[in-house]
Amino acid sequence: MSLSFEGRVVLVTGAGGGLGREYALAFAERGASVVVNDLGGDTKGGGKNSAAADKVVEEIRAKGGKAVANYDSVEEGEKLIQTALDAFGRIDIVVNNAGILRDQSFARMSDLDWDLIHRIHLKGSFLVTRAAWTHMKNQKFGRIIMTTSAAGIYGNFGQTNYSAAKLGMLGMANTLAVEGHKYNVHCNSIAPLAGSRLTESVMPPDLVASLKPEYVAPLVLWLCHDQCQENGGLFEVGAGWIGKLRWERSQGHIVRQKNQPMTPEAVRDHWDKICDFTDATKPTTIREAAQSVVSVLFQVESEGEVSSNPTAVAALAS
Ligand code: NAI
Repeated sequence: MSLSFEGRVVLVTGAGGGLGREYALAFAERGASVVVNDLGGDTKGGGKNSAAADKVVEEIRAKGGKAVANYDSVEEGEKLIQTALDAFGRIDIVVNNAGILRDQSFARMSDLDWDLIHRIHLKGSFLVTRAAWTHMKNQKFGRIIMTTSAAGIYGNFGQTNYSAAKLGMLGMANTLAVEGHKYNVHCNSIAPLAGSRLTESVMPPDLVASLKPEYVAPLVLWLCHDQCQENGGLFEVGAGWIGKLRWERSQGHIVRQKNQPMTPEAVRDHWDKICDFTDATKPTTIREAAQSVVSVLFQVESEGEVSSNPTAVAALAS
């Protein structure tokens, strides 16, 4: 059966163009009522214009869909959610997508370049999501998307500000997934790759044209559907391909002995072992991650009696 969003109210931030526009059109086509938010400024965060959001609302309405515009910056989180409540009476889904770029090599990065990127991407997503949170908790349904980036995951020249803010959003998503879980409020992150006005300055034109936003939107729709139980996931998506990412941790090595000081030389001498990903583990919770570290205390105390693998020790200790 096809996935319907009938009865659902969706806010897509930065939906006046690029990926956000595609999400808004796709949700509306499947029956959702959509708040099309866009400040309508330039790619660096300057200016504002209602035309961008209006145009997408017109497109949706022309196809018989339900949409209203909101022209506030995501820094006015409450106002965006109020538009959803005023127009449609509820809020079910928030797609944090609005974004700008202020690339600069690190030595030239100004306070303004740093602050504006954090204000729009990280704080904006916080403010919009916080405004929706209680409504979602109370109704025991919510789906939130954070738009992170490969620049944050892998690093990218000239993007210290953007990388930091984008991985900040991933950190926020990880904790929202924990806090929202029992209320059926799920939060997932995507790192998209698509042609848009943000990428046209760094990609050749044929790639901008080929990497269509419509090859990203179906993942966002699935993650936001009530049938989807995914929570706290991170996905790279582009060109019609979707992959999931997770943390990997080496088995590691204990470089300390009972009643002996821990030294940097011991760290150096075991460096290969510390960095060896053979039989790596994949912790998924903070409890799991911390438990294996704490269990090292037990192992050092009972020196020589158990394996030097903290994960195995954790199993013994628990
Ligand atoms: P885009 O520039 O076409 O879309 C971003 C939209 O956000 C614009 O319409 C802009 O007016 C709006 N916006 C900017 N500041 C705003 C504010 N303060 N309040 C409300 N709206 C605001 O760019 P694109 O590529 O569609 O980007 C969407 C998201 O995806 C961004 O968060 C971007 O960082 C992220 N992203 C995109 C990638 C790509 O390959 N296109 C790669 C990785 C991340």
